[in-house]
Amino acid sequence: MSDAPVPPQLRSRAWFANDENIDMTSLYLERYLNFGLSLDELRSGKPIIGIAQTGSDLSPCNRHHLVLAERVREGIREAGGIALEFPVHPIQETGKRPTAGLDRNLAYLGLVEALYGYPIDGVVLTTGCDKTTPACLMAAATVNLPAIALSVGPMLNGWHKGERTGSGTIVWKGRQMLAAGEIDEEGFIKLVASSAPSTGYCNTMGTATTMNSLAEALGMMLPGSAAIPAPYRDRQEVAYLTGKRIVEMVAEDLKPSDIMMREAFLNAIVVNSAIGGSTNAPIHLAAIARHIGVELTLNDWQEHGHKIPLLVNLQPAGEYLGEDYYRAGGVPAVVAQLIGQGLIHENTMTVNGRTIGENCRGAEIEDERVIRQFDRPLVADAGFIVLKGNLFDAAIMKTSVIGDEFRTRYLSNPDDPDAFEGPAMVFEGPEDYHRRIDDPALGITPDTLLFMRGAGPIGYPGAAEVVNMRPPAYLIREGIGALPCIGDGRQSGTSGSPSILNASPEAAVGGGLALLRTGDRVRIDLSRGTVDVLIDPEELERRRQDLADAGGFAYPASQTPWQEIQRRLVGQMDSGAILEGAEKYQRIAQTAGLPRDSH
Ligand code: FES
Ligand code: MG
Repeated sequence: MSDAPVPPQLRSRAWFANDENIDMTSLYLERYLNFGLSLDELRSGKPIIGIAQTGSDLSPCNRHHLVLAERVREGIREAGGIALEFPVHPIQETGKRPTAGLDRNLAYLGLVEALYGYPIDGVVLTTGCDKTTPACLMAAATVNLPAIALSVGPMLNGWHKGERTGSGTIVWKGRQMLAAGEIDEEGFIKLVASSAPSTGYCNTMGTATTMNSLAEALGMMLPGSAAIPAPYRDRQEVAYLTGKRIVEMVAEDLKPSDIMMREAFLNAIVVNSAIGGSTNAPIHLAAIARHIGVELTLNDWQEHGHKIPLLVNLQPAGEYLGEDYYRAGGVPAVVAQLIGQGLIHENTMTVNGRTIGENCRGAEIEDERVIRQFDRPLVADAGFIVLKGNLFDAAIMKTSVIGDEFRTRYLSNPDDPDAFEGPAMVFEGPEDYHRRIDDPALGITPDTLLFMRGAGPIGYPGAAEVVNMRPPAYLIREGIGALPCIGDGRQSGTSGSPSILNASPEAAVGGGLALLRTGDRVRIDLSRGTVDVLIDPEELERRRQDLADAGGFAYPASQTPWQEIQRRLVGQMDSGAILEGAEKYQRIAQTAGLPRDSH
């Protein structure tokens, strides 16, 4: 007797092959025939595989998935499945106003409905641009149908005058050069355009490269595939293999809940530190974990992630870009280094039916300029630190991007090497900052700490990437490249600013940042993990009362129905900023039964 698992009854048969309810089956069949599928195909018992398409003209980072989907279909067909491609609500990180952060949960909701409410047995998730990856994984977690992620891959490396120009990172650098008068506006635009030489997502270690690397580390993507640049032939090949594999996964009933266990999330945290991953990763991993029912807290980042060294030399923390990362060995080479130190839970399952240990053990580094051996890291203890104090309960700081200038200026007091303090300059959102930052009357000095508030999930709404603020132009000209930035918004993963981010609770829901005033002294202690405004508790209490009397922290009115709905339901960033109430719907393909008939 074989102990191979018995393949599950395909849920799509309830639509297309339910002979006890021929009325409805006929209705379902009738319409799915009309673009060329045959009765025989739909009634044959072949699994129906969704291709959740995140690419479109509105989502240029993921647009290459429109091409890759052809190869996914060929893989699905060859393995005996039938492909049904459908759109996911577009999320493009830089184009969507007021912020793509608003749309992750909307795309999640839409994808849950599509996966659950249609005849789909398994799904290929086309991931890429920042929020598309977590939105897809969150939905796959909630529905818990067999699912496999396919990264669209980064753009080719950008070049300008013989130097690598990386997406996003070059914008933050160009802004400084423009402010300092080193380039003019046309030069600025040309410099930025040079960083985008092909189709694909940001070629830096921004949130896109981060989240796709973590999708692979979680086990949800074929090993070695996250980093393949979009235009490479290998990308087409892995699209085909992904299509083939999802059909087998349906037969094996290999589901997200078999893969995304707590140990897989801990692996992802460790990998995030080693790759120098984005400060958006803790938000998105928390969201995915909550939807699959895994306990994961910000403390796990401190406990499991902080002591991990930086091994990947990609911008913004380092020098290189996406093509180099792939050629140097990508995620498997990094994981193999971590396995060598016993830092990876090797027995976690992955989409190819093997464990991460089996997939990655012994994977070689092909270029040590780009991926370092564990004992020759770029930075020791390169993970995030988690901070708290009287301004917020939780925030994070990416220590791998603390540069020499910052270290010398703020972290070199021999009596107190990890702490610094200074007067606060408070900005009420990015408009306020852009309007005033260069005004000498503000009196910003190299000691000033820049604060941004009103930028969280409710205040903005959607939590915008606006906390990384450049110093005033007059300080940049004096050689001050960065001031400490703190805020209740996010920061682009492509920014090399060592900001203190994602402060929760945000000012808009009464977090301590709402009580801060320009001129208050604030102390930051990195070894103790604290950020505190140095005023006495009675004064803070008085301010809290004044704020309440004034009707609370003011933020702009909602401009769309979704802004209003999300504001009512969304939680704070330290717990993933998910729609509170959505997490109780778990594994619905198994727990909720099938949806009722449509007619
Ligand atoms: Fe879409 Fe960077 S803006 S990947
Ligand atoms: Mg971004």
